[in-house]
Amino acid sequence: MTRKIIIDTDPGQDDAIAILLALASPEDLDVLGIVAVGGNIGLAQNARNALKVVELSGRTEVPVYAGCERPMRRMLVTAEHVHGPTGLDGPDLPEPKKKLEAQHGVDYIIDTLRSEEPGTVTLCTLGPLTNIGMALVKAPDIAPRIREIVMMAGAYFEVGNFTPAAEFNVYVDPEAADVVLRSGVPITMIPLDVTHGVLSYAHRIEGFSGIGNKAGRAVAEMILFSQKFDLEKYGNEGAPLHDPCVIAWLLEPDLFKGRKINVTIETASELTRGMTVADYWQITDRPRNVLYLRSADDAGFYRLLTERLARLP
Ligand code: BDR
Ligand code: CA
Repeated sequence: MTRKIIIDTDPGQDDAIAILLALASPEDLDVLGIVAVGGNIGLAQNARNALKVVELSGRTEVPVYAGCERPMRRMLVTAEHVHGPTGLDGPDLPEPKKKLEAQHGVDYIIDTLRSEEPGTVTLCTLGPLTNIGMALVKAPDIAPRIREIVMMAGAYFEVGNFTPAAEFNVYVDPEAADVVLRSGVPITMIPLDVTHGVLSYAHRIEGFSGIGNKAGRAVAEMILFSQKFDLEKYGNEGAPLHDPCVIAWLLEPDLFKGRKINVTIETASELTRGMTVADYWQITDRPRNVLYLRSADDAGFYRLLTERLARLP
């Protein structure tokens, strides 16, 4: 049976690849809508990038919304140094013809959860959790209607990628992440501990361009651009591919391993702002609010991604 999802995102090359993976999998995933959020780059550019990616996939019937421009309590912090000045540097994608929907992304999330059958809609978050936090604050009645939130967020064993203590998506809006983690909604967290094991080695990038379609070429060009920063930073032979793990988890959960634990967000300290304090060894009796994934079968992940991208134009 297909699973209904809303993708909340700040594209971003790895976000774009996640969106393509979802849109290439209509028999598994019914993508109800895509909502942009301020994150890797400002909201307007993220929304434009989402439109470009939807056009690249050929699935132009999927609506795209713009959500929040900035975090709940803080100024927006962006990551052009990783993703380039457009947020999606690499491929030369045409300016989109498709337009954004008029409704605000947060209201779209609320209305969709209220109108769909309870327990049927999964939220997939690939950026800061601002839109979901705002939706839960504005309309707490939606919480029990959400099937699950699957998020690329956080780190424990790998600690931080944006500061020594914090992963980017949580660092940008720790208050929103805190609201979401305390909401009681079932959560699967895909942290850097997983994505740092899913590396785009050269032969894997060649696998994407070797498909011979537009999407495969664009994905290879995206990775070739965004990997520069990570190759130098981590000194590995390949760069992590973060956000597509969220979609891969929905498509093939057997590729991943993890356990149910408590995760709490640090919001008070400046030094460790946005740290995901994961009780991985179950030292406390805090509620186990998160299915925390720890590792992935990286060869299986790249096999799945390559197979699915081959279905696109
Ligand atoms: C996350 O930060 C963003 O730059 C990526 O798109 C990913 O969602 C990784 O920390
Ligand atoms: Ca992202």
